[in-house]
Amino acid sequence: MVMLDIRNLRVYFEILKGKVKAVDGVSFQLDRGETMGLVGESGCGKTTTAFAITRLLPFNGHVVGGEILFNDMVLARADMATEMLELLERERWLPRVETLFERRQNAMQVLKEKGLGEMPGESEILLAEEEIFLEEVGDILAIKDRVAPEELKEMLSKAGKAETTGFFADRRKRKIEKEIEAKMTAIRWSEISMIFQSAMNAFNPVYRVGDQIAEALLTHEDMSKDEAHQKVLELFDLVGLKPDRVTGYPHEFSGGMRQRAIIAMALALNPQLIIADEPTTALDVIMQDRILAEIRDLQKEMHMAMIIITHDISVVAEVSEKIAIMYGGKLFEQGDIVSIFENPANPYTIGLTGAFPSIKGKKKRLKSIPGSPPDLANPPLGCVFHPRCKLAQDICKEKMPPTIEVAKNHRSYCHFAEEIYTGKMKV
Ligand SMILES: Nc1ncnc2c1ncn2[C@@H]1O[C@H](COP(=O)(O)OP(=O)(O)OP(=O)(O)O)[C@@H](O)[C@H]1O
Ligand SMILES: [Mg+2]
Repeated sequence: MVMLDIRNLRVYFEILKGKVKAVDGVSFQLDRGETMGLVGESGCGKTTTAFAITRLLPFNGHVVGGEILFNDMVLARADMATEMLELLERERWLPRVETLFERRQNAMQVLKEKGLGEMPGESEILLAEEEIFLEEVGDILAIKDRVAPEELKEMLSKAGKAETTGFFADRRKRKIEKEIEAKMTAIRWSEISMIFQSAMNAFNPVYRVGDQIAEALLTHEDMSKDEAHQKVLELFDLVGLKPDRVTGYPHEFSGGMRQRAIIAMALALNPQLIIADEPTTALDVIMQDRILAEIRDLQKEMHMAMIIITHDISVVAEVSEKIAIMYGGKLFEQGDIVSIFENPANPYTIGLTGAFPSIKGKKKRLKSIPGSPPDLANPPLGCVFHPRCKLAQDICKEKMPPTIEVAKNHRSYCHFAEEIYTGKMKV
């Protein structure tokens, strides 16, 4: 059994002018004890992925597609009707709606076999609703040639609303969400913990930092107050904080000290999975190295898995065996770090690795990738990277690329993954 299984995750934010497609079809798996680096330029969806896993998305962020499983427990699963509608709407400008529809039907078949829902009777309700929705969407598709795109959009959104905001659908959704939330509360910090990008907000300003960590220990573990206090001192020592800081309040800590305290908090309960979002950016270089080495040692010793999020590909090279390279809400290349560094199969990875200095290789000028990341509220058609890609051809402007497995544990999202991997095409 894989520990963390993320399947085709899509997270959208609702904003006034529409939707920000922050995470758009991300899949990866992580086993116990493994470390994966999640790398990409600012705004590509790294933190959003982490928040989806830990169920800490802001109020306007929703999982609209896919699912997240942790030791086979569902942490997030998109409402099927919403998911289907999103897919149909997203592809409405393409002449491929029928194929898509067929694909969805096949997917539904698989889901039917697999079984939906957690509670008795839930599967039947979900499936019945799905049947109705399929029928409605089918009718709409049948008449799509006779109606204007705007009208079609309205019809689709009505069909979607009926399913997703109807009284029963709502009640059902709330019930499921409440159950998942309760499970997550039980395992947050103890089984999955997170080192936040902005350590500023991670602690409650009116309680002493040491007390907050002790509180987490006392809530989840069977220990006395004295033992908890002792453990907090050990953790402080581990991350390089002086023992007298234990009684300090968050505002008395510098940015770097707060960062170290949140690392202590994340390690406190020996979680199975740590998600570290830019864990060392607020620290000086010496402290960065020390903390990274320590996190790495502890993680090895306790067999914890880790997702380390960073802009800096050299940090990943130091601590991970897996890497996932993200751009515009999608994973462009992922898998075994050695295979990807030695033989990248994606123009974006090649651009990104060229943008960082190599420690061993000969000195060369740093390249940056020309252009800027896409507007995720209005991403380009086809491959989101095509406007910046040196190799872009017509197909890249029109069609989203497939994810191709170029080698064992090495996948690339590019129309020309194979050609780049084998060296037939050079970036
Ligand atoms: N609450 C929100 N409402 C609307 N859009 C949001 C919200 N939070 C994030 N976004 C958008 O979602 C996209 C992904 O953001 P995210 O914070 O996940 O990026 P990131 O990869 O973590 O970037 P960074 O490296 O700068 O931390 C960005 O375009 C961002 O503007
Ligand atoms: Mg971030």
